[in-house]
Amino acid sequence: MTSKKIGDVILDVKNISLRFGGVKALTDISFNVREHEIRSIIGPNGAGKSSMLNCINGVYTPSEGSITFRGKT
Ligand SMILES: Nc1ncnc2c1ncn2[C@@H]1O[C@H](COP(=O)(O)OP(=O)(O)OP(=O)(O)O)[C@@H](O)[C@H]1O
Ligand SMILES: [Mg+2]
Repeated sequence: MTSKKIGDVILDVKNISLRFGGVKALTDISFNVREHEIRSIIGPNGAGKSSMLNCINGVYTPSEGSITFRGKT
């Protein structure tokens, strides 16, 4: 396994959109997490926090965008 230096991007979320029928759960979301970094997703009820995590873990497949973790899509 290739070791990453502090500051290297390990999770890269780009332009994610997800809809449930007519409900736009996520619209064009981008962020990254770097090696040695802890980031939080915050927002009010229905903002899309759980939907975002479920795109990262593969439960949902976003309609647009890409998610790369340690170099794998
Ligand atoms: N399985 C689903 N089917 C249809 N709509 C959904 C589904 N899951 C989420 N939604 C809708 O998508 C939007 C985002 O919901 P989500 O559950 O991701 O928000 P959340 O930030 O996790 O909210 P909470 O703080 O209440 O947990 C909301 O409008 C919600 O009603
Ligand atoms: Mg939730």
